[in-house]
Amino acid sequence: MRTTVGIIGAGPAGLLLARLLHNAGIDSVVLESRDRAYVEQRQRAGILEQGTVDVLRAAGAGERMDRRGLRHDGIELRFDRRRHRVDFPRLTRGRSVMVYAQTEVCKDLIALQLKEGGPLLFEAEALAVEGAESDRPAVRFRHGGREDVLECDYVVGCDGFWGVARKAVPAGLSRVFERTYPFGWLGILADVAPSHDELVYARHDRGFALLSMRSPSVSRLYLQVPADTDAETWSDEEIWDELERRLETDDDWTLRRGPITQKSVTPMRSYVHEPMRHGRLFLAGDAAHIVPPTGAKGLNLAVGDVVTFARALTHRQETGSTELLDAYSATCLRRVWQAERFSYDMTTMLHRHPEATPFEERLQLARLDRIASCRAAETDLAEGYTGFPIG
Ligand code: APR
Ligand code: PHB
Repeated sequence: MRTTVGIIGAGPAGLLLARLLHNAGIDSVVLESRDRAYVEQRQRAGILEQGTVDVLRAAGAGERMDRRGLRHDGIELRFDRRRHRVDFPRLTRGRSVMVYAQTEVCKDLIALQLKEGGPLLFEAEALAVEGAESDRPAVRFRHGGREDVLECDYVVGCDGFWGVARKAVPAGLSRVFERTYPFGWLGILADVAPSHDELVYARHDRGFALLSMRSPSVSRLYLQVPADTDAETWSDEEIWDELERRLETDDDWTLRRGPITQKSVTPMRSYVHEPMRHGRLFLAGDAAHIVPPTGAKGLNLAVGDVVTFARALTHRQETGSTELLDAYSATCLRRVWQAERFSYDMTTMLHRHPEATPFEERLQLARLDRIASCRAAETDLAEGYTGFPIG
């Protein structure tokens, strides 16, 4: 098998890249180790930055998003039983975000790819990337019980944090920057209308809580829990009671309860692998970097990476110049580090660290109070939340 761009992984990074390349007239093959149903059901975050919305629309993948997605013009911060709304368009000259689940983005892109794009192979597991330093890199993979080789001009590793692509970068050339957190998020999906029309991020002495949504009739909520928590040890009633405590305010706001249809625990990690390119192997999305979910930057970062790659390869095909491909890692990393900083700041401002001193807890409240009372601080949050420019 031979193609111009071998793409490993059919998460949002790999799927969007295949679409962008197809639109630019460049052929690709996508290898995905899981089956289609698994990829379409995996629960992930659901906030699209303005830039991501624009990219999906321009790629011809925005039709269902525009019908079903919910435009959000702000978020609410809760602390000390108080509420503070951050108004995005007012602070960022008109920008907003879209609530549209990552699973839906994946479904839309898979449908388009199968209808109009190049091969997308499910249950095709990449085993290794070979010859990254040569002109003819290749992906060795297993599909339908057979081993095969995909020969390429370029390989893009969009295979997430646990993938194989990153392993093809020699250890001596890799640098990893990492932080793990002693807590995770217990996330639930519930068949009940959201208790607020915008997302609520709450800092509480008992820990962080987040109220989000998937549709006008489905709520998505999260609770900070210790890192090694088993979701099954929490009964539905305990989850609702704890959410109520952490989200409580001094006014008459109330939390609506409903049947919980899914619960799971997400670990929290900050991670960056540098560089994001080795020879003709390029890393994109979670394969190169992870952010904690506070602020929902993961998907949006993946989109920035593949847009940058698609532009760079198109430039190479049109002009013969490798200038943008050579700049890929540095271009992406600049934005990646802004998102790492933003996600880290949001996480440390809102979560209860088990070893935090009373002094540090007061500082958290002071940071929140600063956002609620100083337009420059609030603008910084709004700009970060609605997204950093691509490229
Ligand atoms: N061969 C083929 N496919 C693989 C392999 C492999 N060896 N290893 C992993 N994969 C697939 C996974 O099954 C998954 O479908 O690669 C895909 C990676 O997708 P994601 O983990 O969704 O990563 P990415 O596309 O970079 O999207 C980033 O996902 O983790 C969230 O918060 C993150 O929202 C962000 C987004
Ligand atoms: C979600 O809806 O899943 C979500 C929203 C905002 C976040 C993280 C996750 O910061």
